[in-house]
Amino acid sequence: MGVIIKGGTAVTAEQSFKADVYCEDGRIAQVGLDLDTPTGAEVVDAGGQFVMPGGIDPHTHMQLPFMGTVASEDFYTGTAAGLAGGTTCIIDFVIPAPQTSLLSAFHQWREWAQKSVSDYAFHVAVTWWDDSVHQDMGTLVQEHGVNSFKHFMAYKGAIMADDEVLVNSFTRAWELGALPTVHAENGELVWQLQRKLMESGITGPEGHPQSRPPEVEGEAANRAIRIAQALKTPVYLVHVSAKESLGEVIRARNEGQRVFGEVLAGHLLVDDSVYLNTDFDTAAAHVMSPPFRPKGHQEALWRGLQSGNLQTTATDHCCFCADQKAMGKDDFTKIPNGTGGVENRMEVLWHAGVNTGKLTMNEFVRVTSTNAAQIFNMYPRKGSISVGADADLVIWDPEASKTISAKTHHQNVDYNIFEGMTVRGTASHTISQGKVVFKDGELFVERGAGRYIERPPFAPYFDAIAKVRDQNPPVFVER
Ligand code: URP
Ligand code: ZN
Ligand code: ZN
Repeated sequence: MGVIIKGGTAVTAEQSFKADVYCEDGRIAQVGLDLDTPTGAEVVDAGGQFVMPGGIDPHTHMQLPFMGTVASEDFYTGTAAGLAGGTTCIIDFVIPAPQTSLLSAFHQWREWAQKSVSDYAFHVAVTWWDDSVHQDMGTLVQEHGVNSFKHFMAYKGAIMADDEVLVNSFTRAWELGALPTVHAENGELVWQLQRKLMESGITGPEGHPQSRPPEVEGEAANRAIRIAQALKTPVYLVHVSAKESLGEVIRARNEGQRVFGEVLAGHLLVDDSVYLNTDFDTAAAHVMSPPFRPKGHQEALWRGLQSGNLQTTATDHCCFCADQKAMGKDDFTKIPNGTGGVENRMEVLWHAGVNTGKLTMNEFVRVTSTNAAQIFNMYPRKGSISVGADADLVIWDPEASKTISAKTHHQNVDYNIFEGMTVRGTASHTISQGKVVFKDGELFVERGAGRYIERPPFAPYFDAIAKVRDQNPPVFVER
């Protein structure tokens, strides 16, 4: 049975127009004014509301084994929470332990994700290097629909990628038509600053931002971008949180380099005062990397989004409850890093972005959905309202308001970094694969209904970079 959305205003990355949308067999079948209602179709009244492509959160970590524990949100609860907030697709991360097989890790994550209720895809982290990694990257791209690889420049002694790994992996990614992505923080600086702070008696969560100041991020951003420049590969920086790293992204883009930047809803809205809270649980609940920054950085990040220098918004949804955060009660370096937000990203961005005039509705669609679909090569299947696209849609009530709280959210975590924030503009309905899965505050999800989305290599921007390389080959290619 199909679903017809009647009387709404469709909002895409390009335009807004009055239209009904008919979904059948999981796809958008018709878009137009005053469509006839097919017999038996479920009718959703979208009068006074906006119909937008479902959100894509390109950065989540469901049930991630990390820092001696496992993230509390699994693929079932996490994708359900996403749907409750209008996010219909996530891109999560497969993170193999160093010296272990990328392919085995990929299969492990695929198994964990079987219970997802919305669609999902995977980036795969490159945490070490040898010939098997080179080979597995090829297999992942050519046989398993992976087109992006992640590099953690932080987390020394665990999953940190050094320059050798970065150079080898970026080179290989280019051959395969895959996009290298980086968590840009200088892991050595963080490591040494952590030791010094602990030795000086700073053991609480206030030590976390002190051990990861903005320069740490700026240095790594510059290094990753310069490596990409030398190798003439594109590069995507996850969670740009500081003026210093944003500055590197802007500089490189102004110089013609194909650099993409992501910003987290949390970094746009939460500042570093949270670490001064004398209640350990509250301060520790905000420990994530990079940390929340002083307010001036938020203004810069908003400008980055407005100017198009940052293209995507994400959450880095990686949840740990208070009992897990307590692992670092006497040593902030042991507090599991991560915060949630997959359910709230779209509403907080609408509230703080569209309601204030920082973003147009079309820009909102671009930064919450379409740009991610294009950069990670899922467009127009995802991120568009077009005939043949997946029927992943959110119906947005611009007048509905709600106050965000851990007491009422669907996320499987006991804290919400947006606690107490009242937002105007929320999802009234979410449609996933052509089915109404969220309506008037209630979820109607089916365990395992989510599909793994294969993403082909060689997104359109590869062709553009190839032309530049032909004229001016990278340092490693024979001239
Ligand atoms: O603190 C964070 N962000 N935890 C998840 C892992 C990462 O760095 O993305
Ligand atoms: Zn990260
Ligand atoms: Zn992350």
